[in-house]
Amino acid sequence: MKIGEISLKAGAALAPMAGFTDAPCRRMAARHGASFTVSEMVSAKALTFGDKKSFRLMAHGRNDAPWGVQLFGAEPETMAQAVRLIQKVDYDFLDLNMGCPAPKITSSGAGSRLMQDPVLAGQIVRAAVQASDGRPVTVKMRLGWDNQHLTAREVALRCEEAGAVLLTVHGRSREEMYQPGIHPEEIRRVKEAVSIPVLANGDVASADDALRLLEETGCDGVMVGRAALGNPWLFEQIAAALEGKPLPPPPTLRQRMAEMRRQIEEMCEEKGEWAAMPQARSQAMHYMAGLRGAAGLRRACSGLSHFSDVDELIRRVMEENPIR
Ligand SMILES: Cc1cc2nc3c(=O)[nH]c(=O)nc-3n(C[C@H](O)[C@H](O)[C@H](O)COP(=O)(O)O)c2cc1C
Repeated sequence: MKIGEISLKAGAALAPMAGFTDAPCRRMAARHGASFTVSEMVSAKALTFGDKKSFRLMAHGRNDAPWGVQLFGAEPETMAQAVRLIQKVDYDFLDLNMGCPAPKITSSGAGSRLMQDPVLAGQIVRAAVQASDGRPVTVKMRLGWDNQHLTAREVALRCEEAGAVLLTVHGRSREEMYQPGIHPEEIRRVKEAVSIPVLANGDVASADDALRLLEETGCDGVMVGRAALGNPWLFEQIAAALEGKPLPPPPTLRQRMAEMRRQIEEMCEEKGEWAAMPQARSQAMHYMAGLRGAAGLRRACSGLSHFSDVDELIRRVMEENPIR
């Protein structure tokens, strides 16, 4: 599979997740076999105001897999301006957000609000494609605004016509947020409507889930979000399953803790401890999944304030889980 001219290896892509998929997280996913990674969403409008925080979201981007910058916005001209402003950033492709359900985003007309206006969605893609220096443009969308208006097929056709080279479809409407389960048959309708590659997204938590979703949707690949947090080994497992190889063994607890430590260390190096530690708390909690004493350990995660606290957390994890 390709994003324009960029060849992808077999495997799942890492979904963009605001507050989580910073450079260390993406680097780790790529190291474990993610086919590509995407930044946290960046506001096109904020970029045009010169907002430093927004530019920082694109720092240290390069990793072992192709990586994209995800932009959100509601106006074609602002999108074009933002794309021109980030030309010096060393990214591989641009991804446009048409899926975010947060009122803060949709109230401005961006994110999943665009699912209500396929024509505008197409205009935004065209503006990004025309402003881009040749780097390809992809789109990530939901199925529609609500279940009475599943517009993904129409939006997808507009995006393709406007020059998008790959689509990812999260199989829920905006109204469904993250519940109940996804609708693979609706993702399939999108896949069957367009001739560019389509990735299916939603609720993939194992190699079996990935194979099933591909089977149900006929898609070219899958994208994984929440289940990869604290578990980058999922990418290796999915890649092996896609290649028909035996699944690699799960990581030992020591390996899990070492990966968590490395991730938080890189976060501190790149953002400074003060900015990194609040985010490190939520990252660390995901590494506690399934452990004995997980509730108490998660509470300990919420108390992490300095990088040195991570070693104390690891000591406690190992003590409470001696035989893992
Ligand atoms: C905390 C969080 C932040 C997210 N941020 C973004 C984002 O910035 N851009 C985006 O397109 N989707 C975002 N999403 C949606 C995910 O990319 C993905 O579509 C969704 O979580 C479903 O996939 P999953 O079941 O594998 O997690 C976010 C999801 C979560 C849970």
